[in-house]
Amino acid sequence: MAERYARITGWGMYVPSRVLTNHDLEQMVDTSDEWIVTRTGIRERRIVAEGETTVTMSLAASRQALAQARVLPADLDLIIIATSTPDYLCPSASSILQHALGARKAAAFDLVAGCSGFVYGLVTASQFIQTGLYERALVVGAETLSAGVDWTDRDTCILFGDGAGAVVLQASPYPTGILAAELGSDGADWDALMVPGGGCANPFSQGVLERREHYLRMDGRRVFKFATHIMSESVRRVVSQSGVPWEEIELVIPHQANARIIELAMRRLGLPPEKVMVNLERYGNTSAASIALALCEAVEEGRLRPDDHVVLVGFGAGLTWATAVVHWQPAEPEGILVVDWPVRERLAQQAAYLRTAAWNARVAVSTRASEAAMAVLLPFYTWSGRRRKKKTERRTTTDSR
Ligand code: COA
Repeated sequence: MAERYARITGWGMYVPSRVLTNHDLEQMVDTSDEWIVTRTGIRERRIVAEGETTVTMSLAASRQALAQARVLPADLDLIIIATSTPDYLCPSASSILQHALGARKAAAFDLVAGCSGFVYGLVTASQFIQTGLYERALVVGAETLSAGVDWTDRDTCILFGDGAGAVVLQASPYPTGILAAELGSDGADWDALMVPGGGCANPFSQGVLERREHYLRMDGRRVFKFATHIMSESVRRVVSQSGVPWEEIELVIPHQANARIIELAMRRLGLPPEKVMVNLERYGNTSAASIALALCEAVEEGRLRPDDHVVLVGFGAGLTWATAVVHWQPAEPEGILVVDWPVRERLAQQAAYLRTAAWNARVAVSTRASEAAMAVLLPFYTWSGRRRKKKTERRTTTDSR
């Protein structure tokens, strides 16, 4: 069978119009705009209005993506919604979306991989197209996290927001779409980010509600450490595997969880800020929607152009991660691929591969070195922080006497 690829041909996004700023949060929990901005980079997030849900936002984003791709819903073969906040525990949000779109012949299922879900979905749908089973697929990342966070818990409620992003994939004979990918999970840390109640291990009950176990709980430090490590390591592996010379990666779109995580991981990769898409200051962490929203805005802002290579990298509950190197070519190219390159081009490509191998080794060394430095310094920072806190407490007690 001739090789097939899955081209991204359409994209669309939807965010609710209601804005919740850090200043609004100051009125709800014991926090400050300054704390949130310095620790996370987030300034505001969007929150659904009454009647808006994961499915209604997915519908709006999907209609845009389908119009862009000039694909009729009735021609879709597959719909995947990556989400951890579906409208109902059963049935899937994807089946409800399928009905709302009128995509009668499409298979539909939800995919739960936390904030890595959109890239997991993209890789999954691409596989169905590349094997020849399907021609057209719709992948959505959508979340209504405002319904899943505890608005009295300042550790989590300041981080999250609502939204949806969608892409259409179509079969293509040209090498485009996902060129290399890695999907991963480290279940050892499954309890670092979880909803403790409402599943069959701890079904809904009065006790679950009273203990507020139906809301998201997070061990922020554990997630932070995992995220910075996995983002740099996985991107390094997947770019090398893709064969795309490192300098030909025009943009990286990381999961929009925390500006500090992104900064640290990108520094390890030696990437300048202009090559990294960040929009979390306006939307917060929208989990499975975040990379899809950032992708749409990158295209709209002209930061992602035809024939560019973009790296998508996500991490989240599980703990999972997902990375993909994507060739961005929404329209069929006019020429055909040149197979018989002249010697000069072939030599230039070999040189680019060598440069990528050197970059790969440098990133591996710098990641190990910065992790070793963190392991040494973290206990010291924790100890000195506690000492400073105790001193302040002692001073306050003495002053108040
Ligand atoms: N406002 C003010 N203070 C807050 C606060 C808030 N919203 N949330 C926590 N604090 C306090 C803590 O109680 C703690 O106080 P203490 O020193 O008196 O005990 C202090 O701030 C420091 O807390 P800590 O948890 O050490 O902060 P941090 O620097 O690790 O930042 C996160 C916290 C959550 C921002 C950070 O750990 C993080 O981003 N982790 C990754 C989370 C993530 O990305 N999750 C989604 C994954 S998909």
